[in-house]
Amino acid sequence: MFLDQTYLFTPGPTPIPNRVNAAMAQPMIGHRSPDFSELIEDVATRLKPIFGTKHPVYALTSSGTSALEAAVVNTVAEGEHAVVIVAGSFGDRLATIAENYGVNVHRLNIEWGKSCSPDELEDFLKNLSGIPVKAVFATFNETSTGVLNPVGALGETVKRLTDALFIVDGVSCIGGVPVDMEADHIDLLVTSSQKALMLPPGLAFVAFSDDGLKAIKSCPAKRFYLDLNRYVKAYNEQKSTPFTPAVSLIAGAREVCAMIEEEGWENVISRHNLLKDMIRAGIRELGLPLLTSDKDASPTVTAVQPDSVAAPDIQKALKADFSITIAGGQKKLKGKIFRIGHMGYCTPFDVLKVLSALELTLVKFGQEPRLGTAVRKAEEVWIQHV
Ligand SMILES: Cc1ncc(COP(=O)(O)O)c(C=O)c1O
Repeated sequence: MFLDQTYLFTPGPTPIPNRVNAAMAQPMIGHRSPDFSELIEDVATRLKPIFGTKHPVYALTSSGTSALEAAVVNTVAEGEHAVVIVAGSFGDRLATIAENYGVNVHRLNIEWGKSCSPDELEDFLKNLSGIPVKAVFATFNETSTGVLNPVGALGETVKRLTDALFIVDGVSCIGGVPVDMEADHIDLLVTSSQKALMLPPGLAFVAFSDDGLKAIKSCPAKRFYLDLNRYVKAYNEQKSTPFTPAVSLIAGAREVCAMIEEEGWENVISRHNLLKDMIRAGIRELGLPLLTSDKDASPTVTAVQPDSVAAPDIQKALKADFSITIAGGQKKLKGKIFRIGHMGYCTPFDVLKVLSALELTLVKFGQEPRLGTAVRKAEEVWIQHV
C-alpha cells in the first residue's frame, strides 16, 4: 500500500500536528532577542493550567531523563535520604539516577502492572520513621506498564507523615490528565515534549511549588546545566534561558498551547479518558488480557498481555502489514506485553484504526475471527460521548 502513510501509536514520541510542524518551521529567532523573550514568557504562562501551577513552567533543552536528573540534583544531595516509588521501568530509572548521585534511596517496590496505593506508601513511610527523608519521588504515569498512580492521594500521604518534598515524574501524562500541584501537594513536576504535548523529542519541562523553589535554592548538590536556579534567574531577569534553547521546539510549544486552548483543557482530558475506555473495550472484546485493572488504567497508554499469540509477533505484524508502530514491553515485561500509546494528537478514529488492524492480525495468527467486533465495542463507547 502507500508506504508514506504511517501510524504512530507509541507512548512517545507521538504524532505531531501539521500546524505545530508549521510553527516549528518559522524563521529562526535569536534567543537573546525580544522576540524570544515574548515567546518564552508566553509558553511559560500558557502551560500553567496544563501543569496545574500558578508559577511559570520552565523549559530545558534535553530529554525527559534530564528532567528526572534535574529533579534529583536540585533537591537531594549525596548522603541524604529519598524514597522512590518503583512500579516499573521509569520508577527504576528515577531510583537509579538518585543512587548514582550517592543519595540513600529507599525503594518502595510495587508489583509491575499495579499502582501504588496511599496505604502502601503510608506503611513504607511509617517503617522509615526516624530517618530524615528529604524527598519522595513518584512516577505519575508508569509508561512501562500503563498505570496511572493516584498522585493526589500519595502527595497527601507524604505531607501528612513527613516534611519531605513530593516530586513527580509526569513525563507520559502531563498534557493528557488533570493535575493541580497545590491540591496534589506536588513540589516539583517534570515532563518532556514528545508525549501528550504533541511535540518532537528535545524539550523537558519543570514546574515547582514555593517549597520546591526554596529546596532548589538551598540544595548543596553540585550541578551546572541542570541547575534550576539558572533557569529561574534567566527567566526572571531576562525572560530567557541560561543556555541556547531549542527555539523551534519552543515555538512549537506555543502552537500546542493554542491547540489545547481551542479544544478546551477539560475536553482534552475527557478525550484521553475516552480513548482509554475505547481501547480497553475493544481489546477486551478481542479476548486479549489487559495488564492493568480499570482502576489503575492510564488514559495515555494501554498495556496488553496476550496469551495466545506472542506480543512481539503482533507488534511486528502491525508494522509490516499496516505501517502501525506500537511499543513492546521493557525490562521484565520484554516479550510479554505490547503497549499502545493514545496521547496527544490522537482521536477516537485513530483508536478504531489500531483496533481494526488488531482484529485482522489475530486472524492471521489463526485466532477465531472477531472481525468488526472490537471496533464496534469501541464505537459503542464513543457514541455515548458524541
Ligand atoms: C514516565 C517516563 N519518565 C521518563 C522518561 C524518559 O524520558 P526521555 O526518554 O525523554 O529521556 C520516559 C520516557 O518514555 C517516561 O515515559
